Amino acid sequence: MPENTPEENLMEKITNLAKTRGFIFPGSAIYGGLANSWDYGPLGVQLKNNIKALWWKHFVTSRTDMVGLDPAIIMNPKVWEASGHIGSFSDPLVECKKCHHRFRADHLLESKQLEPGYEKEKPVDLKNVNCPKCEGELTEPRDFNLLFKTFIGAVEDDQSVAYLRGEIAQGMFVNLKNVLQTSRKRLPLGIAAIGKAFRNEITTGNFIFRVREFEIMELEYFVKEDEWEKHFDMWLESMKDWLSKLGVDEKKLFFNDLSEKDRAHYSKKTIDIEYEYPFGRKELYGLAYRTDYDLKKHTEHSGEDLQYTDPETGEKFLPHIVEPSMGLDRTILAVLLSAYNEEEAPTANKGETEKRIVMKFPKYLAPIQVAVLPLSKKQDLVELTNDVAQKLSEDFVTEIDVTQSIGKRYRRQDEIGTPYCVTIDFDSLEDKKVTVRDRDTMEQERIGVDELLDYLKKQFAS
Ligand code: GAP
Repeated sequence: MPENTPEENLMEKITNLAKTRGFIFPGSAIYGGLANSWDYGPLGVQLKNNIKALWWKHFVTSRTDMVGLDPAIIMNPKVWEASGHIGSFSDPLVECKKCHHRFRADHLLESKQLEPGYEKEKPVDLKNVNCPKCEGELTEPRDFNLLFKTFIGAVEDDQSVAYLRGEIAQGMFVNLKNVLQTSRKRLPLGIAAIGKAFRNEITTGNFIFRVREFEIMELEYFVKEDEWEKHFDMWLESMKDWLSKLGVDEKKLFFNDLSEKDRAHYSKKTIDIEYEYPFGRKELYGLAYRTDYDLKKHTEHSGEDLQYTDPETGEKFLPHIVEPSMGLDRTILAVLLSAYNEEEAPTANKGETEKRIVMKFPKYLAPIQVAVLPLSKKQDLVELTNDVAQKLSEDFVTEIDVTQSIGKRYRRQDEIGTPYCVTIDFDSLEDKKVTVRDRDTMEQERIGVDELLDYLKKQFAS
């Protein structure tokens, strides 16, 4: 059997660590799973919430030109007609005539490094490309719509068809008028939302990279037409700042100015921010100038006047839109990959070392911030442990861990990325001091129980 490449090994290591440590579990596992669906476990959901909170602060509450929204997942189907999703939100599907596996034609071409890639208007001949599973002959590509269909109410007929949203953006467009009227804000104005989107992807894979149910953090920034470029540049810088806050390695980021054939139907300029994942350089985020395409379409289809009136000049116009869009699951994958480190660390035996795995998350993203570890399960140590943990838990996500040797507990905390471990030993009962261990340097410091909270606050602030 061929050996795995280091890149394949890294994906395997991340997927295993995520599963065994409680970040991300395979979905519906007791029923044999469900085509690349994943459930976020206790640590995964905490990491996710930390990222969402940081995103909200970075893109919304730290600015005066932004507001938030939480639009519905199921919208009037006319929204998706107007947006063009029913007509053109599709990928080219081919099927193997022998084993009936289905593939995306553009991905097949990409994997064979065949240029130019698939273009809807100019379908390429796939005759020389065979099924990657069984070498069987493939069908001609046909457009496969990615929207998930469902039915509203008790009757399943054409009248009751609805869709799970394929993007969140439409919720922002149809609420622009509401937001302008209630927020009393002027242009430029942004509306931000975080939520689930659903796409019936033909092929999924690479762990949480391409899934059918995922979260997007995105914002729609409404501007005057002649100002879109300056706002586009401003958001690109803001996205770069955001990525540095996540600890994502700058050297693994690439900015791809898409050509017209690669852009979505609504966009006049798109920069894909790509990340060098172990399985290749792939899209992490997108920044698009959507023009006034969406508001024009919603005006036509709804009959509502969606124009903005400039309060100073009285001029009426449809705002143009700049859209930074960031997939949360792809963010989490990039954060896990960036945080993963293997290094040699000293063991209890002098002069000896062993491999330690340590997730070096930025401190403010770590799912557990402080672990409190009593050296033994003796009653008085456990009592002091509980007291210390209780005090810390008002300011930090705190965990108590009492099982296994202290060395093994440190290793576990390193693997889940806990920045500080507080060890309570027998001396602690006498001198009222505890040992604080730093995840990254592994240095230990003796700190008084009364000073511990302030000490940790300073560490997290630095
Ligand atoms: N409103 C614009 C929009 O939805 P998109 O590029 O189609 O743009 C936004 O999607 C982001 O969502 C992508 O940049 C990516 O991070 C993430 N994304 C897209 N499809 C995904 C999938 N199948 N699984 C996980 N994340 C996905």
